[in-house]
Amino acid sequence: MQTQLWKVDPNNIDQEIIAQAAELIKRGEVVAFPTETVYGLGADGLNPDAVRAIFTAKGRPADNPLILHICRIADLSRIAAEIPDQARQLMERFWPGPLTVVLPRTELVPDVVTAGLDTVAIRMPSHPVAQALIAASGVPLAAPSANLSGKPSPTRAEHVWEDLQGRIAGLIDAGPVEIGLESTVLDLSGEVPYLLRPGGISREQLEAVLGEVRIAGEVEDQETPKAPGMKYRHYAPRAPLYVVSAETSAEIAALLQSLVNEAQRGGERVGLIVSEETRAFLTVEAAETRVIGSRENLAEVAHNLFGILRDLDQTAVTVIYAEGFPPTGVGAAVMNRLYKAAGGRLITP
Ligand code: TXA
Ligand code: MG
Repeated sequence: MQTQLWKVDPNNIDQEIIAQAAELIKRGEVVAFPTETVYGLGADGLNPDAVRAIFTAKGRPADNPLILHICRIADLSRIAAEIPDQARQLMERFWPGPLTVVLPRTELVPDVVTAGLDTVAIRMPSHPVAQALIAASGVPLAAPSANLSGKPSPTRAEHVWEDLQGRIAGLIDAGPVEIGLESTVLDLSGEVPYLLRPGGISREQLEAVLGEVRIAGEVEDQETPKAPGMKYRHYAPRAPLYVVSAETSAEIAALLQSLVNEAQRGGERVGLIVSEETRAFLTVEAAETRVIGSRENLAEVAHNLFGILRDLDQTAVTVIYAEGFPPTGVGAAVMNRLYKAAGGRLITP
């Protein structure tokens, strides 16, 4: 398949390109597009064959459901059977934006979207290109992150191209995304709000509206995992990755120092992912060092994480040590993704 590549200026959208991309979507094709979180892989969310084509293009397991993307609140009642007050309050506060809500679904939503669940995940993205594409397509767009299954989510069109060129009909390149981590997924289909995936909207922000929000895993329960996607190993770089955490940059640097020395004595080629502050304390030279941003600016750290993971995969490193960050605000989402990339491996003093 030939992948059509369009470049679009998000501040001056070429509607002709949007119309062409929407035409492909209406025909049941798959088109990658930018959102404020990560690039998405979109298809007509009400057409089961089109949605199946997304799973094929990504190599995604069929039991991992997709998010439906809408551009107007008016489209919500077609796909959500119930809209609790809490959901309305959150939508008013955080939509359009990086919040996905899981609600009971209507009959209109194909099984292939929800992997057979009786709920559906819904999000209204704020990116102007995403909004324009959804509006021109005239249907909710089913869209996972536009990476091959198991790779970090794409934060630039180049990442999508690397993974999916020749496997999808089109790619709209509108430059790097703003946030760099996927949306927060909140389950509002039960008695209590459940945070299934931390993301661009923090738990603290949600709790300011809702009161208490539970986190999947915090409360023991015997049921099947609530977010089917959580059981897969995500974002795994080729080299084994370890999260290295301590209170201060000086402590983290000291710990990294001894880890790097030891690994290098063992013949390893070490990759480091560190903050500016920690970098300043380091005196050893690793094979590859990537500065992810400032500890004082976790949004910057979030923005750079996936690109750095992809970048290190292009190098010959054999082990990666990544600095840990405080799990508050967007830091919770950063640490969630880092732990996934690490398969849970954590080193502390
Ligand atoms: O920021 C984002 O959310 C991006 C952009 C493209 O919108 N999309 C994204 O999609 O990250 P994806 O498919 O990579 O992640 C969707 C997550 C998965 O963990 C999935 O299991 C969960 O949402 N999910 C989807 N439908 C669900 C449902 N009905 N119940 C529980 N979890 C659901
Ligand atoms: Mg994904």
